[in-house]
Amino acid sequence: MSLEGKKILVGVTGGIAAYKIASFVRLLKKQGAEVRCMMTPASSDFITPLTLSTLSESPVGIEFYNSKTGEWTNHVEWALWADVMIFAPVTANSLAKMAHGFSDNFLLATYLSAKCPVFIAPAMDLDMYQHQTTKDNLLKLESFGYTIIPAESGFLASGLEGQGRMAEPEVLVQYLQDHFYADNRFSGKLFLITAGPTYEAIDPVRFIGNHSSGKMGFAFAEAIAALGGEVILVTGPSNLQVMHKQIHLLRVTSAREMLNAVQENWSKVDVGIFASAVADYRPAVVENQKIKKTEDQLQIVLEKNPDILSWASSNRSAVVDQKVVGFALETQNGIEYAKGKLEKKKLDAIVLNEMGEPGVGFGTDTNSVKLLFKNNKMCSFELQSKKELAFALLNELMNNLYE
Ligand code: PMT
Repeated sequence: MSLEGKKILVGVTGGIAAYKIASFVRLLKKQGAEVRCMMTPASSDFITPLTLSTLSESPVGIEFYNSKTGEWTNHVEWALWADVMIFAPVTANSLAKMAHGFSDNFLLATYLSAKCPVFIAPAMDLDMYQHQTTKDNLLKLESFGYTIIPAESGFLASGLEGQGRMAEPEVLVQYLQDHFYADNRFSGKLFLITAGPTYEAIDPVRFIGNHSSGKMGFAFAEAIAALGGEVILVTGPSNLQVMHKQIHLLRVTSAREMLNAVQENWSKVDVGIFASAVADYRPAVVENQKIKKTEDQLQIVLEKNPDILSWASSNRSAVVDQKVVGFALETQNGIEYAKGKLEKKKLDAIVLNEMGEPGVGFGTDTNSVKLLFKNNKMCSFELQSKKELAFALLNELMNNLYE
């Protein structure tokens, strides 16, 4: 899926992630795209116009008027030139201006003249990203029909950790490829995804949980929505957010709450993908008050949680041809255990995570997995971002489940 001959207008605003735009422009050029860059004046503190002009092989638009040449840069011509506009990174300030129609620099005037699809990749500190005004502005821009490329979680320039990092250049490219080559193949299909950990209360202040971040499940939800599908995303505690209007987010805490949310929605679902790391056991008794530190040893009796995946596969609809895909997280004998779960839980396919290798499993932005089908077919997926992996897995799943 090359971007050969596509005219891509890249808008850069003044955030630290602007340095990544050099690699983004290089990736676009490598794919044969025609690239023009425009910058807010503030962004040139983070990356020079010369860098972007050299990499894009085209003049960079910053001001309406060039005092050296006496020339006026026509923002309307720039807007009409573009097949797509992609703004990355977009600061909270530029985001607010875009949502409310401000036009106090060349980049914003060109954005307001857009006749083509617009992509917006915000980047800011986590508290700014969580602020209600930012959320409202993102929703407003989405309501205009623009595509928001959500910020990722990780280390931020402030030294804090959380959601706010601009999506990586490869992800930005993926969005553009999806746009140009979208086959909307999931249009009309409803998916249910489980994601994240579950927390099982011990007392009012403690719980049993695990290290799942939700990234794998959220990546599936975003990939499905990008391909035109609708998603019910049931997640345990996770600080990830969703922006896409086709993703309906249900937040739960415990395994039993997750089961309830699945049961309430299951009958209308076409495909269920169960990426959540559900606690197999929960404390048999939840203390009403905080347990006091009196004894040297404390025993907590655990009882089995319901198996949500098994419930779904054994309660398939009589009218919808429902497909059920599980996950398996294993530390040894991965293929053998995954095959066992595939059979025992009566699944159509299972995704095997083999913990132990760097960049694989809980909390990471990347993953490497094996996909096993009930007809014994197996495919391996090398280490890649969870977002790319979600697209690759969906491709393989759909080709095999509906063949
Ligand atoms: O969230 P991330 O940080 O991105 O990490 C992703 C992940 C590693 C959590 C994910 O890719 C993954 O492997 N999820 C499954 C983890 C797990 O609990 O595997 P399991 O082998 O214990 O469970 C097998 C399957 O049964 C899973 O589909 C699980 O969702 C499901 N299950 C398990 C127990 C239970 N009570 N109910 C269930 O539905």
